[in-house]
Amino acid sequence: MAATRAVAAGGPERSEAPVRTRITDMLGIDIPIVQAPMGYIARSRLASAVSQAGGLGICETSSGRWDEVRAEMEAMPTLTDRPWGVNIAGLFVRDPALLDTVIDVVVNAGVRFATTSAGDPARLVPPLKAAGITVFHVVPTLRGALKAVAAGADGLVVEGVEGGGFKNADGASTMVLLPQVAAAVDVPLIAAGGICDGVSMAAALTLGADGVQMGTRMLTSAESPVHDNWKSAVLAATETDTVVVNRYARPAMRTLRTELSSEAERQSPAPSLSLDGIRSLYFGGEMNAAYAMSGQVAGRVTEVLPVRQILETTWRDCQARLRQMGNRATG
Ligand SMILES: Cc1cc2nc3c(=O)[nH]c(=O)nc-3n(C[C@H](O)[C@H](O)[C@H](O)COP(=O)(O)O)c2cc1C
Repeated sequence: MAATRAVAAGGPERSEAPVRTRITDMLGIDIPIVQAPMGYIARSRLASAVSQAGGLGICETSSGRWDEVRAEMEAMPTLTDRPWGVNIAGLFVRDPALLDTVIDVVVNAGVRFATTSAGDPARLVPPLKAAGITVFHVVPTLRGALKAVAAGADGLVVEGVEGGGFKNADGASTMVLLPQVAAAVDVPLIAAGGICDGVSMAAALTLGADGVQMGTRMLTSAESPVHDNWKSAVLAATETDTVVVNRYARPAMRTLRTELSSEAERQSPAPSLSLDGIRSLYFGGEMNAAYAMSGQVAGRVTEVLPVRQILETTWRDCQARLRQMGNRATG
C-alpha cells in the first residue's frame, strides 16, 4: 500500500499534479470522497453515480430489508465497473446467524470493501477480513479507534458528532477527534461529519485524513431517492437546525429539527418509529412521520446538485485550497 500522505503542497516541490492519498491508492478510486451509507437511501442509483464519478459509492444494509439490499448489490455491477463498497451496522445484525448471512450476501455480490459501524469491531471486522474484504471501522472516539485497529481494521472512518445519523451523543467534533486519532494510529483515515465542499475537505485532509465521507451532502444530491421535501428542508436549514434525539436512551441520532424531533428530544427514550413512518418521510415527504437524520452541515448545503458535480467541484476546490494554503505558508 502506498503511504503517501495528503498534505498541503508547499515549498519548491509544489506542483499542479492531482493530490493522491492513501485512500485513492488503496481503494483504486480517483477522488477520495466516499458516499455515506444511509438506510434506504444509499442504494444502487446513488452509490453507482458516486463510483462512476470517481469516488466510492457505498450500499447500505441498515434498512434490514435483506431482499431489497441483495437486489441492490446485484444491480451495482450492471451500473458501474468502478470500485464500490457496503456498510454493515452491528446494531442491525445482532444475531450471529444474521451476520453470517449478511457476510455471505456481501461476498457473493463481489464486494471488496466494507465499512462496519455501530458495533464491536472485534465481532464485525475479523469475519469480513477472513472473507478477503478490506474493512474500515467507523469510530466516534479515540478509544474506539484504538480498539478497531487492534481488531485488525485496515482503516477507520473517523466520525465527528456534528454528522447526521446514529451518533455517540457525547462524541467530539471532527475538528477535535480527527487530529487526535491521526496522531495515535497509522492506518488510512476517512473523515466524516461536517464535510460538504472543497474547503471542508481540505480542512479534513490537513487534520490528517486521507479521504472524506459525506452523508448530508449526498442525501441532498440529485440522485438521492429521498422526497424533495426533505431535500428542501436541508437547504433551508441553518447550522443550528439539528437536534440529537435519544441522547440518554441510545441509539442517539442527529436529525433535522422538526415538530416531531423537537418533542422527541425531550423524551427518554424517544418514541421509536414504524417502517410506515420511515417510508412516509423518505419517499412521501411527510416530515413529521419519522426522524429526518441530517448533520449540522445542513446549514452549509444550499443547492441540490448532481453527484458528479459535487465530487468534481469539491475535489477541484479542495486541491486549490491546499495549494493556496501552501502559497500562504511559504509567502
Ligand atoms: C440519513 C442518514 C442515514 C445514515 N445511516 C447510516 C448507516 O446506516 N450506517 C452508518 O455507518 N452511518 C450512517 N449515517 C452516518 C453517515 O454514514 C455519515 O458518517 C455522516 O452522515 C457524516 O456526516 P455529515 O452528515 O455531516 O456528512 C447516516 C447518516 C444520515 C444522514
